[in-house]
Amino acid sequence: MDDRTTHHAAGGVIRRLWVTETPAFREHLARLDGDSRRLRFAGAVSPQYVEAYANDALKRATAVYGWFEGADMRAAAELHGPMFSRTGEAAFSVEPDYQGRGIGTALMGRIVLSARNRGMRHLVVSCLSENSPMQKIVRHHDAEIEFHTGETVGTVHPNFPTGLSMLREAIAESHGLTSAMVGIQMDMLTRYFALAK
Ligand SMILES: CC(C)(COP(=O)(O)OP(=O)(O)OC[C@H]1O[C@@H](n2cnc3c(N)ncnc32)[C@H](O)[C@@H]1OP(=O)(O)O)[C@@H](O)C(=O)NCCC(=O)NCCS
Repeated sequence: MDDRTTHHAAGGVIRRLWVTETPAFREHLARLDGDSRRLRFAGAVSPQYVEAYANDALKRATAVYGWFEGADMRAAAELHGPMFSRTGEAAFSVEPDYQGRGIGTALMGRIVLSARNRGMRHLVVSCLSENSPMQKIVRHHDAEIEFHTGETVGTVHPNFPTGLSMLREAIAESHGLTSAMVGIQMDMLTRYFALAK
């Protein structure tokens, strides 16, 4: 599997988040249950820690992608590391009711494409050793896997960027943006008709 699978969004829409969407990202992370939160942050962290993390994440990350069902964001993938830094790091969060539906796999495709187009040669995904869904996802991208005590580190090697890979990202982004605009219009119309009743 490679980053050409980015058209597949597991029944939802994947798009890049704007910094102004920090509240939606924060609320998404707050909806993770205790176990998912522990797996996401590779250890026990408090809701306050997660809130502080979320408040800053969109400013610090290279890119954050959301997976949307209608107007609701139910999963996210973060890419950290400066452009052309050779090494980036990715992290994933899918809300409990949405896990096991292929969303993490779809987000990984988008993150690998994003890392590729930003000149990253290594994409690192760290997770707890017990996290077999995350390990399966990175294995699909021919990752090198290292096992440490309690932790697994997968390194994916994105291909070099090409005009076509840039175009694929642009198309995926414009599809996400169009879906977001349609979603906002639909939401406004629904509210309007609900008020008019
Ligand atoms: C890890 C996580 C991102 C995976 O996303 P997901 O949408 O649930 O995963 P997918 O549905 O794409 O499934 C990925 C693979 O794991 C398998 N899988 C899914 N849930 C599983 C489970 N509970 N047990 C075993 N395997 C499972 C799927 O069958 C699939 O394998 P395949 O590709 O060989 O068929 C998601 O579960 C999550 O957010 N967990 C909490 C936070 C976390 O662990 N983040 C990762 C560390 S940064």
